[in-house]
Amino acid sequence: MIAATTPSPASEPILSVKDLHVRFSVAGGLLRQRRTIHAVNGVDLAVQPGQCVSLVGESGCGKSTTALAIMGLQAPSSGAITVEGRPVYGPGAPDRLARARLAQIVFQDPFSTLNPRETIGRALSQPLMLHGVRDRADRVATALRQVGLLPDHATRYPHEFSGGQRQRIGIARALILGPRLIVLDEPVSALDVSIRAQIINLLMDLQQDLGLSYLMISHDLGVVEHVSDRVAVMFAGQIVEEGGWREVFTAPAHPYTRRLIETIPNPARLTGGAQDILPPAPEPPSGTRFWPPIDQRPEIGRPPEPSTFLNIGDDHRVRVRAGS
Ligand SMILES: Nc1ncnc2c1ncn2[C@@H]1O[C@H](COP(=O)(O)OP(=O)(O)OP(=O)(O)O)[C@@H](O)[C@H]1O
Ligand SMILES: [Mg+2]
Repeated sequence: MIAATTPSPASEPILSVKDLHVRFSVAGGLLRQRRTIHAVNGVDLAVQPGQCVSLVGESGCGKSTTALAIMGLQAPSSGAITVEGRPVYGPGAPDRLARARLAQIVFQDPFSTLNPRETIGRALSQPLMLHGVRDRADRVATALRQVGLLPDHATRYPHEFSGGQRQRIGIARALILGPRLIVLDEPVSALDVSIRAQIINLLMDLQQDLGLSYLMISHDLGVVEHVSDRVAVMFAGQIVEEGGWREVFTAPAHPYTRRLIETIPNPARLTGGAQDILPPAPEPPSGTRFWPPIDQRPEIGRPPEPSTFLNIGDDHRVRVRAGS
C-alpha cells in the first residue's frame, strides 16, 4: 500500500494553470441538437523556470485545448492561467503583442503554419517587424543558426526544406522574440523516427543555452521520458497522475499511467540501470480507489465524476475517487 504525504512548497512558476475548464458547445445528430463537450475538466499545471514539464495522454484527451488556452487562443470556461505571473485572460492581461514575448508555441506540423509563397526570412522577420525591432536580418540569421540551419536559408521557401528542417524553422520562429516559455505541441510526432532524436536533442540544447522552460505535449510517453523534469498524465480532460520524472516513471500508480509506460519500446529508465521491469502496481491507500478506472473509461467530452488528488510521495500525486 502507498502512504499519503503532504506536498512540498514550490517556488514562483513561469507558467501556472489553475482549475482550467474548457467546454465546447457543438451541434450534432439528426436534429442538430446542441451538446456540450467537456474537453478540459479542472487541469492544474505549473512549470518552474528552466523546467521541462510533459503533458501526455491519448488523442482527444484535451492536450491541445490546454495548450491553446495557455497561449491565449482558446478562452477558458473557467480557471486561471498566468505566464511569468501575468494573467493570460481577464483584467490586467497583456495584449497579443505583449503575450508573444512571454510565450510561444511550436505545432506538430510547421508546414501548415508557413505561407508557401513567403521566404523563411520573411516569415521569421514578421514578428520582429510587428514589435519594431530594427536589426531584423541579424536576428533572423542568429535564430537560423541556433536551430542548426544556415543564414542563407532565409532566402528559401518552405517547400525547399525537409520535414526535420521545417520543424527547425518552426522552432526558430518560436525563439525569435526571445520568450522564456515555449509550449511544444507534439513537436516530433509528424517526423521520421530517425529525425525525432535530432529535434529532441536540439530542443534540449536550446533549453540549456537559452534558459528556456518547456511544456512538452505528446501522446507518446516514450518521447518525453528522456527529457522531462516532471510529467503530468492526462486522461479524458483531467490529470490523473503527476509528479517528478523519477516518481512517475519508476513507480507509476494509476493504471492508465502504467499502461502507457508498458507500451514504451526502449524505456530510458532501463538504461539508467535502476530496474528492468515496473514494480508491482501499488494498492491505493486504504479506503480509496484510483479514478477513473480504465476498465470503465469515461467517454471523452463528458462531465467528470467527483474525484480528487491524493499525494503519494513528496513529489507525486494521483487521482482518486472523491470521498473514497
Ligand atoms: N473547437 C472545438 N470545437 C468542438 N470540440 C473541440 C474543439 N477543439 C477540440 N474539441 C474536442 O475537445 C476534445 C479535446 O481535443 P484536443 O484537440 O484538445 O485533444 P488532444 O489531446 O490534443 O488530441 P490529439 O492527441 O489528437 O491532438 C476532443 O473531443 C475534441 O474533439
Ligand atoms: Mg492535439
